Amino acid sequence: MATSLAEQPVLKMSAPDLRSDLDLSIEETMRLLRLAIDMKRDPAHYATALQGRSLSLLFEKPSLRTRLTFELAIQQLGGYAVTSIGMIGDREPLKDVARNLDRWTQGIVARVFAQATIEGLAEWSRVPVINALSDMFHPCQALADVQTVLERFGRFDGLKLAYIGDGNNMAHSLLLTAGRLGMQVAVAAPEGYQPDAGVLAMAREAGVQFTITADPAEAAEGAHAVYTDVWASMGQEAEAEERKRIFAPYQVNDALMARAAGDSIFLHCLPAKRGQEVTDSVMESAQSAIFDQAENRLHAQKALLLMLLK
Ligand code: CP
Ligand code: NVA
Repeated sequence: MATSLAEQPVLKMSAPDLRSDLDLSIEETMRLLRLAIDMKRDPAHYATALQGRSLSLLFEKPSLRTRLTFELAIQQLGGYAVTSIGMIGDREPLKDVARNLDRWTQGIVARVFAQATIEGLAEWSRVPVINALSDMFHPCQALADVQTVLERFGRFDGLKLAYIGDGNNMAHSLLLTAGRLGMQVAVAAPEGYQPDAGVLAMAREAGVQFTITADPAEAAEGAHAVYTDVWASMGQEAEAEERKRIFAPYQVNDALMARAAGDSIFLHCLPAKRGQEVTDSVMESAQSAIFDQAENRLHAQKALLLMLLK
């Protein structure tokens, strides 16, 4: 007789860390999503899965969703989190920070400016390191996003994701996570703000089907999911006014959504600047799945913690 997913042993990830989306294989990502959906359905079954385990949460930048969902995730698995806010490595070398944390806690979750900080923590710590956003990637958000797509459509193949706006950390993670799962990814961004050439090379190498254009209408055409993010990310506040002018034609509004498929959804990692990258009307529309995404941060991260720390 087939056993339920909850009865099966959780298979560990093959990589020791989640430094970027590429640390999860396609098969592991699918396994994580099935586990996340099962945890969402039956949270009680997993209530002691990481009993007594602790997690260090480090933040160089602000957070609402990431911090609270990691705190809740570890608590709902029977563990607990401790949090430190401030620039990592300012008071002492990164390699010393990493080797303090791995004496006290069984995992490190870090939100940083430089991707090199994630890589350094992973190199020096003996416990798993999770990238909770760097200037290059936001893999935990992308996992919640593809969970939301899977719940809505039941598949990835044959679906088009349009990413409209800044070719930033979110665009990079969506290219690598949604793209490797089989979604066709169309990015529309102004010249000079398109995704990083190195990340595009990684996507190409992984066989991702993607297009890069400066035309938002072209990217949105027939899309099943239309995604946007802020025009000025954390750390780019000084450029915010200039970016408002440059990105004005990239606003996701009702006219742009009308180009998408009839059953399309609107996605945004949040926080959003309503009236800039997206209108209030789209945020509040029946197509908007933004709060499902936010909810799924919790479930996807619970699955991730189990696959990394168990
Ligand atoms: N989407 C996201 O990472 O939200 P926070 O910045 O609030 O953590
Ligand atoms: N691109 C945004 C994402 C916030 C969740 C930033 O880095 O600020």
